[in-house]
Amino acid sequence: MIRYYDEEHMFCLDTEHCSYQFEIKYGRYLLHRYYGRKISSPIRGIAGRNLGKNYSSLHPDYEHPEYSPDMELFEFPLEGRGDYRNPAFRGRRKDGSPVFDFVFSNYTISNGLIAAEGLPSVYSENLDNAETLDVVCRDDHTGLELHLLYGVLPEYDAIIRWAVMINKGHQIQTVERFMGFCLEFPDSEYDMITMEGAWAREHHQKRRTIGTGTTSISSTRGLSSHQYNPSAIICRKETTEDSGEAYGFSLLYSGNFRIEAEAGPYGTLRCLMGINDDTFSWNIASGASFTTPQTVFVMSSSGLNGFSQKFHRLIRERIIRGEYRDRERPILLNNWEATYFDFDHKTLVEIADSASQMGMELFVLDDGWFGNRNDDKSALGDWIENKKKLSEGLIGLSREIHQRGMKFGLWFEPEMVSPSSRLIKEHPEWVLGTLEESLSLGRNQLVLNLALEEVQKFIITTLTSILNESEIDYVKWDANRSISEYSSRKFSGDQQGELSHRYVLGLYHILDVLTRRFPHVLFEGCAGGGGRFDLGILAYMPQFWTSDNTDAVSRLKIQSGASLFYPSVSMGAHVSDVPNHQVGRYSSLEFRSSVAMSGNLGYELDIRSLSEEEREIISYDIAFYKKWRRIIQYGKFYRLSPINSCCGVGENEEFSWMFVSPDEKKAVLFWFRRLHVPSVPPSIVRMRGLNTEFTYLETNLGETFKGDELMYSGIVVPQPLGDFTSWIAEFSAV
Ligand code: DGJ
Repeated sequence: MIRYYDEEHMFCLDTEHCSYQFEIKYGRYLLHRYYGRKISSPIRGIAGRNLGKNYSSLHPDYEHPEYSPDMELFEFPLEGRGDYRNPAFRGRRKDGSPVFDFVFSNYTISNGLIAAEGLPSVYSENLDNAETLDVVCRDDHTGLELHLLYGVLPEYDAIIRWAVMINKGHQIQTVERFMGFCLEFPDSEYDMITMEGAWAREHHQKRRTIGTGTTSISSTRGLSSHQYNPSAIICRKETTEDSGEAYGFSLLYSGNFRIEAEAGPYGTLRCLMGINDDTFSWNIASGASFTTPQTVFVMSSSGLNGFSQKFHRLIRERIIRGEYRDRERPILLNNWEATYFDFDHKTLVEIADSASQMGMELFVLDDGWFGNRNDDKSALGDWIENKKKLSEGLIGLSREIHQRGMKFGLWFEPEMVSPSSRLIKEHPEWVLGTLEESLSLGRNQLVLNLALEEVQKFIITTLTSILNESEIDYVKWDANRSISEYSSRKFSGDQQGELSHRYVLGLYHILDVLTRRFPHVLFEGCAGGGGRFDLGILAYMPQFWTSDNTDAVSRLKIQSGASLFYPSVSMGAHVSDVPNHQVGRYSSLEFRSSVAMSGNLGYELDIRSLSEEEREIISYDIAFYKKWRRIIQYGKFYRLSPINSCCGVGENEEFSWMFVSPDEKKAVLFWFRRLHVPSVPPSIVRMRGLNTEFTYLETNLGETFKGDELMYSGIVVPQPLGDFTSWIAEFSAV
């Protein structure tokens, strides 16, 4: 609920458990006052941070000399008038001055969530009681009108922030930095947690103490990136998985971003998030506007698990949309690691035969089905089936797969082009970059300029005709390189700074058209694995290929890191061959399955060469997964912390997590150990989210336990010998 308190000049935005408050000071300035656990009325106690006279403080407001911007908390901090911390906005007026003075003008409150124009947005449904606050500020020198937007989703405990700049003046204005999200804290005694890594090592949880100055993560790779996910959690030092405060935010954006957490000189913490200004500038013509991406943020006072659960639900129900939003996701077989580029119709049908016999539901034909693509050096852009490999064509293959009772899926990499392709010969001007002779290659390919309408049309028409002609139920949308040369032969000099953002807008337009046109198709995002796993993509594609690294041991860190923000239903997780193709490691089929079953299960190995015993294990696992799929994909997820850490056992050697049904009657627990350590106490796992009153039967042990015992005392894990072992326990209330 959003309320304005006249007497206190305060806006109070309340969700079910949290409050967000800010004040209009002296009728002009928007000062942040509070974000945290719910408070029933406007706060008074710490309103105003006047720290008394200070040698260096500036006083731009002569009528209110006590107002010193360097010490205040702002909703939208500006530079050039006495606040020396990082600003949310930077620009250059036509007269060359960098000073802008946005002053409060008026506000409106409307029902429901408003969408950010041209960008993916969090949405609301009728019964959500969602509201949007639009606070308008004006800069008289330029005629720029700033709209600060706050969407409130009470039941989800979520607030969405973004901003729109409208040029109501007569001259063009240049924006050089525009962060749609700012969240200030009165103290800076916090840690920051992010998901970081590199290709095949994405989403590793990184926790650091916020020191003095600015802690920042960002991407200039054109994609949100493997290196840093556009999300962060700010939490107290004592916050654990199960207790303490955690404030987390994530950007609905798939391109270059920046997050800054700045501990100010007067003990405050300022968090900013938005488009990365290193690769951005934008000219707003008279009468035109610019909209920032949305940031969604959530606060939990029950630790990181509490935080993740809120975020998971929000993503599942108010970011993911379309027919697959609430549907169980099919178990797939992907031919990539089974065949790479070397396949033909007969091989694929044989693989599909085995897959369907074991209970798999979707056959995905990966890279190499088009043009003369027999390695990664050619044919991107020439999206015509290769009849030498697919003798019956895509139509024939898709039909045969369907006859086996499976769905059929196809891989594309629509944003890219191979230098030797026909497409590039016909349209060299479609490629990003202006210096033809020295364009950087990534995985032997160049990037199409998605900012160009003709490129958008080409991709939309090409995919539309393939999806119409064959029987395709699933699309894997890949993007295997970073963007480098941010320029275009088709852009004028002063437009070049807009390219990185225009690329992302182009991508969203294409995805919007295609996903609306093909509502029955399940889209899975991919960018060399998890290089563009973000809320922007999830607004179009309900699942993402978490990492190219299919090694189950590596996946423990990757998947548990990603689970900070992303629900299991959004994470592709495949069982692959041994030795693993990325790291060369051996692990048992049971172990590999247990890790993959913790996400959106798939298989990516040549199942024709499996032994009878392995086929039986896989068939059993598939039946098991189908039994628990609803709860794994849509239940409540808890990361469980090991309680022993004797002799190296514990945090880095053991991982466990569990899923609980909404009625708390069913739960499934996964426990994993990397290296075995002898002569240590048995591992004990304390479960979470059960009902203390219920008695649960663990079906494999055949024993019953009370819910309170399982949560407070814990369950002793049977100690299998060997490295890379796992244990699954199934609980049903009796
Ligand atoms: C990278 C993806 O992440 C892989 O799964 C596979 O689709 C290859 N690209 C194909 O080129």
